[in-house]
Amino acid sequence: MQIIKTKSYIEICQKASEILVEQLKQKPKSVLGLATGSTPIGLYQKLIEAYQQNDISFKGVISYNLDEYIGIDRNHPQSYYQYMYKNLFSKVDMKDEHIHIPNNDISKIDQQAGAYNKDLKKHTIDIQILGIGSNGHIGFNEPGTPFGNETFIVELDEQTRKDNMRFFNNIDEVPKYAITMGIKNIMRSKQIILMASGKEKANAIYKMVHGEVTEEMPASILQLHPNVVVIVDQQAGSKI
Ligand code: F6R
Repeated sequence: MQIIKTKSYIEICQKASEILVEQLKQKPKSVLGLATGSTPIGLYQKLIEAYQQNDISFKGVISYNLDEYIGIDRNHPQSYYQYMYKNLFSKVDMKDEHIHIPNNDISKIDQQAGAYNKDLKKHTIDIQILGIGSNGHIGFNEPGTPFGNETFIVELDEQTRKDNMRFFNNIDEVPKYAITMGIKNIMRSKQIILMASGKEKANAIYKMVHGEVTEEMPASILQLHPNVVVIVDQQAGSKI
């Protein structure tokens, strides 16, 4: 694990974007694994700026998102589908047919995880972007999830629902289920960039880097991946 400690959130985004910009310059047809949540928003902003300055293009890029809520429609403002279009896809030259976000259509939900997994396996992700939950989840692989899982439907942890309540009006509105890539899918990526900001993440970052590799701390599996870059600010990195 390469660990980069920065002074601020902006610097985390700057460092992560430098790696991605270089990747897209070297390989314009890269396959990217993308995350949502608060943490990567500044990274996406930097990538939009690089695109506007003609440094990079997304025309050849293929993307796979980590996860999507179940129980809210794709048109809901808090769906990860809306998030991705709002924060990145609508502002760059990504081709719609290259974008993959797990389908949460409830009428066919039993088939969606398998279908996404099959699709995902057609490619190898060059760079996977990750955030981390305060409980150590990556994607929505909550504590206790088998490391061998591939894309599956997960019941969200109460901690995750509380953490994500800030995006909704109240806890009852926060979805209880999601569809997520499994740890096995994430570990197949050639390179992983994990970004973390803020004191709420300090414990999880400590356990991810120095703790035992255990399914109780999903991010700890990253100790076994050959090419992980962890980028933290002072608060998230305060215990390492
Ligand atoms: C998002 C995802 C989650 C988040 C994590 C941190 O696609 O898979 O693992 O990365 O919950 O979220 P934020 O960045 O909002 O603290």
